[in-house]
Amino acid sequence: MNIGFLGLGKLGLPVSLAVEDKGHNIFGYDISKQTIEDIKNRKIRYREEWVDKYLPKTKLQINSIGNLVKNSEIIFVPIQTPHDPQYEGITRIPKKRIDFDYSYLKSGIKELSQEIEKNGEDKVVIIISTVLPGTIRTQIKPLLGKHTKLCYNPFFIAMGSTIRDFLYPEFILFGVDDEHAATKAQNFYKTICDSPFYKTTIENAELIKVSYNTMISTKISFVNTIMEACHKLPNTNVDDVTNALKMANRRLISDAYLTGGMGDGGGCHPRDNIALSHLSQKLDLSHDWFEDIMMQRENQSEWLANLIIENSENRQINILGKTFKPETNLILGSPALLLENILKEKQKKVYSWDPYVDENYDNVCDNLNWTNNDIKHVFFIGTKHPDFIKFNYPKNSIIIDPFRYIYNVKDSKIIRIGDNTNK
Ligand SMILES: NC(=O)c1ccc[n+]([C@@H]2O[C@H](COP(=O)([O-])OP(=O)(O)OC[C@H]3O[C@@H](n4cnc5c(N)ncnc54)[C@H](O)[C@@H]3O)[C@@H](O)[C@H]2O)c1
Repeated sequence: MNIGFLGLGKLGLPVSLAVEDKGHNIFGYDISKQTIEDIKNRKIRYREEWVDKYLPKTKLQINSIGNLVKNSEIIFVPIQTPHDPQYEGITRIPKKRIDFDYSYLKSGIKELSQEIEKNGEDKVVIIISTVLPGTIRTQIKPLLGKHTKLCYNPFFIAMGSTIRDFLYPEFILFGVDDEHAATKAQNFYKTICDSPFYKTTIENAELIKVSYNTMISTKISFVNTIMEACHKLPNTNVDDVTNALKMANRRLISDAYLTGGMGDGGGCHPRDNIALSHLSQKLDLSHDWFEDIMMQRENQSEWLANLIIENSENRQINILGKTFKPETNLILGSPALLLENILKEKQKKVYSWDPYVDENYDNVCDNLNWTNNDIKHVFFIGTKHPDFIKFNYPKNSIIIDPFRYIYNVKDSKIIRIGDNTNK
């Protein structure tokens, strides 16, 4: 089949490459000249597994939006629906809650629909972008002409493993507006994977998508609360506790996201929770669960900031890791940055470094005072990068490790968050 992608960003490009690998022809368009230039040069600016394998050999045709419409039977729309940076989760949660910014999506959909009308044939348009419930019907559908046959198909994808998650989903979620379009999409998906195809209303699909992300944040908030309890309770170790909980896979679902560490992060989860808190207020729900999750995350970060300060007398404060998860260069919604911002709010000078974001170790070492023997340090591990296991910690450092994966650093003290068993 001929499949189009309006938007070739962090979601659109990897997914288009996966679709091509299943034998389809792919057509794309993006308003960002830089993005198109990068793709043409076979170079992307974010770390995404498997893209290196697919990108060099792609025959992706990038031309005009008119060309995309003319050639494609199905057009996916993964255009960004951002939140203002203050709603991304790297700062404290603002008092005022707001919805996502749909201006990019609306403008892209409007242009797409006009091109489809010009072309004069029915086209299946599948929106992937994350939106709050009610948005598609009230804000997107009024922009469509009669030849646009709409579906809403949000993905459950983690940045960094986009292609794998697209090819092996737990289920395919389809918000249906036009039965014929949904059937066409279902036939297309049969060529991609054999996961269950879950058809429902557009509004249900919108709610399922954001609830899925919130469920993950809920697990992380919950398990990090246990981690803090273990840190304060003698003879407890959070991993021993969670390893038992993980065996309860009939009633507690699965072991994923059930290991204590930093708060939830990334470009989707914190902002989805904040937007849902806005929805919760708008609907006047009896309890704002989403605010609770974000406040647990924020309060935990403040607790960690205070722990760092307690251990930093006459020491330089360093945070190792800025990204929201290991081995990525993405810092969106990173809890390590939230921690750094809270420390700065408390008037502390913080030095931070991430091997996947910044210049390499040899270049930064002197600037960060790590070679100066007159200065003592406290290191907090903000991201569980493997690089920090064999890191060259200066002598007499204090290392605070919320992931409990650093052992035996000579001449330094390690504080393992959530482990009170002196293992
Ligand atoms: N990245 C993920 O893993 C992921 C996972 C699930 C859901 N989502 C959702 O998917 C959507 C896209 O996310 P992303 O991470 O790919 O964002 P992104 O910013 O990386 O990519 C969006 C792309 O759309 C392009 N674009 C914007 N307006 C356009 C227009 N009018 N015409 C053509 N192109 C246009 C932008 O230039 C950009 O390249 C968001 O709503 C996000 O919440 C993303």
